[in-house]
Amino acid sequence: MALDYYREELKKTASSLAKSGKGILAVDESTKTIGKRLASINVENTEENRKAYRGLLFTAQGLGDYISGAILFEETLFQNHPDGEQMVQKLNKLGIIPGIKVDKGLRPLSGGHDLETFCSGLDNLVDRATEYYKQGARFAKWRAVLQIKDDICPSKLSIKENAWGLARYARSVQESGLVPIIEPEILMDGSHGINKTAEIQEEVIKEVYMACQLNGVFLEGTLLKPSMTVQGADCEEKADPQKVAEITIRTMERAVPASVPGIVFLSGGLSEEAASIYLNLMNKLARKANWNVGFSYGRALQHSCLKAWNGNDVTAAQKALLARAQANSEASKGLYKAGSQPSSDEALFVAGYKY
Ligand code: 13P
Repeated sequence: MALDYYREELKKTASSLAKSGKGILAVDESTKTIGKRLASINVENTEENRKAYRGLLFTAQGLGDYISGAILFEETLFQNHPDGEQMVQKLNKLGIIPGIKVDKGLRPLSGGHDLETFCSGLDNLVDRATEYYKQGARFAKWRAVLQIKDDICPSKLSIKENAWGLARYARSVQESGLVPIIEPEILMDGSHGINKTAEIQEEVIKEVYMACQLNGVFLEGTLLKPSMTVQGADCEEKADPQKVAEITIRTMERAVPASVPGIVFLSGGLSEEAASIYLNLMNKLARKANWNVGFSYGRALQHSCLKAWNGNDVTAAQKALLARAQANSEASKGLYKAGSQPSSDEALFVAGYKY
């Protein structure tokens, strides 16, 4: 069976991705989403410009000291750098493992609440994953999204459907040798408190691992990418960073099997500085399980970098990227000193955010 053929390799790839002091750079924005980012610096959303921007990320010398893997959008996986070399080659030269977003986006969940979605892309996934593997990808990502609203959302239907989709995806890409990053994101939208998030998140992640069990997912060859356990963006009572760290780790301890090698958090709209501070505090806590607690940030690694680039300043952009990558590398060992690297405090949360 294909999964058995890849078992050792999956385990090795997952542990390389979850190496202490390293994290993942998420650069898998859809063409529409990267368009919004580029518009914020008045750069047109052309293939040329996307290539120039992502190409500078993948040639930042030393990035591999802090970053173990990069998640790409399909266009980038098959794209060449402006200098003609494949993007995948650029990453390999830095010692960074290429990965690929394989989901085909969110769709309305019929039978659920208006806010609820399921994640599409299971058709032909084993075949697509085989092509991605041939092109150099060694891991994959699938993002399912849940939102909290009063006692209505997420419904049991949405929890079951999204957990099932994640597990089917995980099993499918493992058949083709890709390590699945399992991402059940709880959005920050809403006015609920942190305890509500914790309760829902625990239920969601447990459901995900039950579905993984049924699908025969090889846990040692997976990573979990959750959101941090924070209150809704409109909640007046803000938990302090220490509390966020404690409740997030408690939620993980209750729901994530010890066989999973790494938990790589998404930044989900936290500011660059907050994403580093929370991660750092989590890594100062004593933990019951041995998983590496790291990061797989998109906005919290790229925000200052994109601004510094401003369409042409490659040197400033690479410097800003390396600064955040180093900060988060330190945070994933509990060694980050807040403010020791240039960063932005700007909240990156956008209500109803779409990738
Ligand atoms: P953010 O860190 O910007 O949330 O992006 C990470 C990601 O890949 C979400 O799917």
